[in-house]
Amino acid sequence: MKIAIVGLGYVGLPLSLQFTRSGVAVLGLDIDSAKVDALNQGRSYIKHIPAEAVASAVQSGAFSASTDFSRVKGVEAVIICVPTPLNKNREPDISYILETGKSIAPHLQKGTLVVLESTTYPGTTDEDLREVLEAGSKLKAGKDFHLAFSPEREDPGNPDSKVASIPKVIGGFTPACLAKTNELYSKAIKTVVPVSSCRAAEATKLLENIFRSVNIALVNELKLVYGAMGIDVWEVIHAAKTKPFGFMAFYPGPGLGGHCIPIDPFYLTWKAREYGQHTRFIELAGEINTAMPMHVVNRTAEALNAQRKAMNGSRVLLLGLSYKPNVDDDRESPTYVLMDLLKKRGAEVAYYDPYVPVIRPTREHPHWAGTRSVNWDRGTVESFDAVIISTNHQAVNYRELSDWAPCVVDTRNAMAGTNSKPGQVWKA
Ligand SMILES: NC(=O)c1ccc[n+]([C@@H]2O[C@H](COP(=O)([O-])OP(=O)(O)OC[C@H]3O[C@@H](n4cnc5c(N)ncnc54)[C@H](O)[C@@H]3O)[C@@H](O)[C@H]2O)c1
Repeated sequence: MKIAIVGLGYVGLPLSLQFTRSGVAVLGLDIDSAKVDALNQGRSYIKHIPAEAVASAVQSGAFSASTDFSRVKGVEAVIICVPTPLNKNREPDISYILETGKSIAPHLQKGTLVVLESTTYPGTTDEDLREVLEAGSKLKAGKDFHLAFSPEREDPGNPDSKVASIPKVIGGFTPACLAKTNELYSKAIKTVVPVSSCRAAEATKLLENIFRSVNIALVNELKLVYGAMGIDVWEVIHAAKTKPFGFMAFYPGPGLGGHCIPIDPFYLTWKAREYGQHTRFIELAGEINTAMPMHVVNRTAEALNAQRKAMNGSRVLLLGLSYKPNVDDDRESPTYVLMDLLKKRGAEVAYYDPYVPVIRPTREHPHWAGTRSVNWDRGTVESFDAVIISTNHQAVNYRELSDWAPCVVDTRNAMAGTNSKPGQVWKA
């Protein structure tokens, strides 16, 4: 069997490799020719995906990458894993999905299965994508070709997370589409979970991400409330976690980051308006979570003040640029927001991140492009008036940090268990 996977990023690349391991040949399609070239040479551009895995898939002939979309002619299924960001008015931008649909439609053959995996609002697959596929191919979904949605559940940086063992939800446009999708994913994934429609599958993914966003907002709010009462929210969460039922631990932080949690809930908010519905939980969670960077900046000002220093002119080091520990993914990272806010208040800002040696150009924070991570040594760390831990990478030595830094603002409870001095660590 041969399939095509469109969009070879954090989702599409590991999925491609999993299919090749299961005996399915994969044609990887992407518009980024640099990625295509790298993969064909057996190189990986994602830290947690080893180059050897790519190289062996290429050498065995099971995987090849291309920018030529006409090659979907020769495959049995096409899986789409392209980005679904928000535009500058924070509305869904499904243009990448539609562009992909337009590129593959003229080459679609009768009987081909098309599966969308990009996170999006209910109705994208059976309305928006279906329209462009049908218009460009002159074929009918559910009659001439199969159509389905299956959300991705990638957990980058989690060594226990393996594509094959994460159950996969699938929803088809018709029962026949569902059956075909089941057949495809069952080759590579242990547990497939069929639902009644593409929309139910799209809505499932949104529920999962909204659940995280709302619960993170809840602990972020409790962090402030308990903090004012002199109670440490981290201690409380660790204690609550011992309850063997009805509780799931979420942790506070400096704000939301990544490609999913800050963005996806607003796909539903936008679509709900069409039905005259309001998404109050989503809006409130967004409000609380986006207020977190300012809270961290205010705590940093307090910490500096206790040393008789002003924010203006102080040197502040951000520890961790990626949005979550042990990965190199800096998309939507709250560290960028912190750097902007601190700079605006006159602080001299630098960062340390072992996974991000230099900042690549980003759409939202282009002014930081080219900035390099400082070195990790006593002289460098000592030279900062405050260090803010925004991401708790395991590779960082927090004992050294407590020996070297005069003042640490800790948003992740990373300093627990170090020999910090009284007044040195400020939880935020
Ligand atoms: N990263 C995650 O952990 C994660 C988890 C669950 C769901 N998702 C969802 O999966 C989707 C993809 O996310 P990602 O993290 O893999 O993104 P990504 O940015 O890492 O990768 C997307 C890839 O698509 C390519 N691309 C863009 N436009 C294209 C087009 N028109 N044709 C072909 N290729 C194109 C890009 O060059 C890039 O290589 C998104 O909808 C995201 O919300 C991501």
